[in-house]
Amino acid sequence: MLMRREFLTASAALAAGLGCLSLAGPGFAQASTMLTRKIPSSGEALAVIGAGTSGSFEVDAGSPQYQQLKQVLKVFFEGGGQVIDTSPNYSGADAVLGQLLEEGGWRSKTFLATKIAADSRDAAQAQWAGTLRSLRTDKVELLQVHNLRDWQRQLPYARELKAQGLTRYVGVTHYVDGGLDELERILRQEPLDFIQIHYSVNAPAAARTVLPLAQDKGVAVLINRAFDDGRLFAKVKDQALPAWAAQAGISSWAQLFLKFAISHPAVTAVIPATSRPERQLDQLKAGSGPLLSDAQRRQLIEQFA
Ligand SMILES: NC(=O)c1ccc[n+]([C@@H]2O[C@H](COP(=O)([O-])OP(=O)(O)OC[C@H]3O[C@@H](n4cnc5c(N)ncnc54)[C@H](OP(=O)(O)O)[C@@H]3O)[C@@H](O)[C@H]2O)c1
Repeated sequence: MLMRREFLTASAALAAGLGCLSLAGPGFAQASTMLTRKIPSSGEALAVIGAGTSGSFEVDAGSPQYQQLKQVLKVFFEGGGQVIDTSPNYSGADAVLGQLLEEGGWRSKTFLATKIAADSRDAAQAQWAGTLRSLRTDKVELLQVHNLRDWQRQLPYARELKAQGLTRYVGVTHYVDGGLDELERILRQEPLDFIQIHYSVNAPAAARTVLPLAQDKGVAVLINRAFDDGRLFAKVKDQALPAWAAQAGISSWAQLFLKFAISHPAVTAVIPATSRPERQLDQLKAGSGPLLSDAQRRQLIEQFA
């Protein structure tokens, strides 16, 4: 628990730090021209750079970290971001997100994606009631079955909620290569609006089957773990960007990892997590400028294999 003096110091440091983050500067101008992709089942357009909340939003409400997240979201929305993904499984991150969206007046700008992570109908119903309370909303945009957990029971439940107007879209998620085969089977047999999967320079397997299949079936795709939970940054420490990065409008490794994800034509949006406003601003820059060519994507996959 921080003492009041420490809190004020941290807040002042944050305010001073944010002074360098001019939202009217070149970074913001670029981010505001964010690319969009259509959700195949509706034609609704979504900004390609979204945000995740696992880890980065697991903070105490009112703490200095919470105030910092408010700046993260301010940068996100001013830069044209829309999709934010959370889950009742993220140690209170959904409640933090709900409070921040309410305080910032941002709910109407948010394409809010959350999950069902339960093993029975009763548990899912109780969880859904808690989700609406935590997120301070009466409906969400996307409800996903978390990690395919009990999906045979939970996907029909999500569809019931969709029929009641409580979510506009339904989907399923996974996060490692071990889930791709089952995801492929589900994609072949179940009508879905969205899937959410991992896909990154060091985990490109989804491009073999699941991504092209989602494209064929007209299913929108969210990409999680585009930074491999942040581990990719350690791998590129002190490494220069590829020579062609500047031509693709890329000035950081974070932008390159995100651009790798959105350059696959099946991908609707990528949802990187961060707790830092300056990183959020940097991430948004990946949403504009040229996409990567097949040759550039292949080169990255070879580099990180
Ligand atoms: N099964 C599922 O449904 C599932 C599974 C995994 C993830 N997800 C969703 O996808 C989202 C994204 O995945 P993820 O959060 O696991 O991983 P990620 O987006 O690959 O990585 C996030 C991590 O990268 C760090 N980071 C961000 N920018 C950085 C930079 N420039 N330099 C160094 N570190 C940086 C962040 O730390 P800081 O906060 O310090 O910036 C955070 O720890 C999640 O938040 C969640 O919403 C869903």
